Amino acid sequence: MRGALLELEGVERRFGGLKAVDGVTVSIARGEIIGLIGPNGAGKTTLINTITGVHPATAGRIVFEGRDITRLKPHVIAGLGLARTFQIVQPFPAMTVLENVTAGALFAGGAPTMKAAQEAAMERLEFTGLAAHASKPASTLTLAQRKRLELAKSLAMKPRLLMLDEVNAGLNSSEVDDALDIIRRIAASGVTILVVEHLMKVVLSVSQRIIVLHHGQLIAEGEPKAVLSSPAVIEAYLGSRYADRIAGGAG
Ligand SMILES: Nc1ncnc2c1ncn2[C@@H]1O[C@H](COP(=O)(O)OP(=O)(O)OP(=O)(O)O)[C@@H](O)[C@H]1O
Ligand SMILES: [Mg+2]
Repeated sequence: MRGALLELEGVERRFGGLKAVDGVTVSIARGEIIGLIGPNGAGKTTLINTITGVHPATAGRIVFEGRDITRLKPHVIAGLGLARTFQIVQPFPAMTVLENVTAGALFAGGAPTMKAAQEAAMERLEFTGLAAHASKPASTLTLAQRKRLELAKSLAMKPRLLMLDEVNAGLNSSEVDDALDIIRRIAASGVTILVVEHLMKVVLSVSQRIIVLHHGQLIAEGEPKAVLSSPAVIEAYLGSRYADRIAGGAG
């Protein structure tokens, strides 16, 4: 695809006999906000882990800005401008909020010196509305603030592509609106974004395109409303979620 920032060609990740990601071929264009959805266990987080080198692909090819990154180490991939947030937020609890974000800046080589890293970190804290908490231990933050800390840490890596793994999970409606505002501002700053999300409100309001994983396979791709109303997606994902809800599941 012309203008593609990231290209996956037949990407597979096995864990023993399980193909958590199974032959995924997709491109992400520069400047795009793309939504990645699918049921629990579909392989969404694994796909991010594979792209970032944490769980390298067992087959296929991953190309970022024309460069094959399939076999590169996570810190090298991060240094090229691919950053992600973690579904399970995992700050260093005893370190301050500022120190956590500074570590992010240093990890990806996004800052040449400690001072530069701290300045970059402070800027990201202001961007995400956490500046007032800079000197508090990360363990004192609320869940919504820890999610924003994850965002600030990943932004400190100066990403060209940012992958958000359920940054809104567990947040209340006004916290989700705040997070959406941050996501839009990140996109406006020129960063390409992959959003993994279970909340349809979020997916529909930010995504320009949606891709759907099911049992590790890409089962649909395209314009958000069309994808969400396609029978295969309803059966694989939306249907099962509605069924869960009727059965009393949290959905
Ligand atoms: N490190 C691992 N070792 C073994 N199996 C794994 C590992 N990571 C993920 N899996 C398996 O791979 C499959 C895909 O999991 P993954 O976490 O990628 O799904 P997901 O789409 O992110 O789900 P969720 O919506 O619940 O976050 C699951 O069957 C999971 O148990
Ligand atoms: Mg996941």
